[in-house]
Amino acid sequence: MSKVVILNHPLIDHKMAKIRDKNTGTKEFRESVSEVGGLITYEITRDFQTVEKTIETPICQMQAKELAKQIVIVPILRAGLGMVEGIHNIIPTAKIGHIGLYRDEVSLEPQVYYSKFPEVIKDSVVLVVDPMLATGGSASKAIDIIKKTGAKDIRYVGLVGCPEGVKRIQDDHPDVAIYLAALDSHLNEKGYIVPGLGDCGDRLFGTK
Ligand code: PRP
Ligand code: URA
Repeated sequence: MSKVVILNHPLIDHKMAKIRDKNTGTKEFRESVSEVGGLITYEITRDFQTVEKTIETPICQMQAKELAKQIVIVPILRAGLGMVEGIHNIIPTAKIGHIGLYRDEVSLEPQVYYSKFPEVIKDSVVLVVDPMLATGGSASKAIDIIKKTGAKDIRYVGLVGCPEGVKRIQDDHPDVAIYLAALDSHLNEKGYIVPGLGDCGDRLFGTK
């Protein structure tokens, strides 16, 4: 079954309070989403494999370590874009793919409109990035698409999840670990996470 990690970190909780507050404006919302993306990255990368490499310090030769695998960040458009800069600041060598999905407002089913990945994705650690894990339909569909590239080491990175979304990933993709800043109570009748933060894409891009 998928590993689920809820960060429970004071710095992340502090920034999440800003993100959740309906009175937080677009600029501060966008900056905080990106910053939490960066903070979560420390946890995601904790078990990444390293390989030894001989380097020379100004004093002598030594065996240092570097990441064994390439990292690919795949934001789910639109809202996933908000976390990319923060993650990329922590892993600047990461390559970036994109998946365009939106949730049909009535059926809540994900509709795919775009996908493009770097060639190295097959042998990379893939971070699927989307702030909101609601029904889990969008994340599950995105992971289906990424698996078709041959990628095997896939992790989901989000801000707010709920039991329904976590269960959907665990059922559909038990091999995919889930990292969240917070796990909320439930979904409302319109498919929004409660208490959540509202519509993340609209708040990031000022579309409502
Ligand atoms: C939001 C969010 C997720 C999806 C989560 O995107 O960013 O992608 O909903 O819902 P789910 O778990 O029920 O699938 P939305 O469809 O609003 O598109 P947007 O990012 O373009 O605003
Ligand atoms: N998408 C959002 O942006 N927010 C939710 O609460 C659920 C899905």
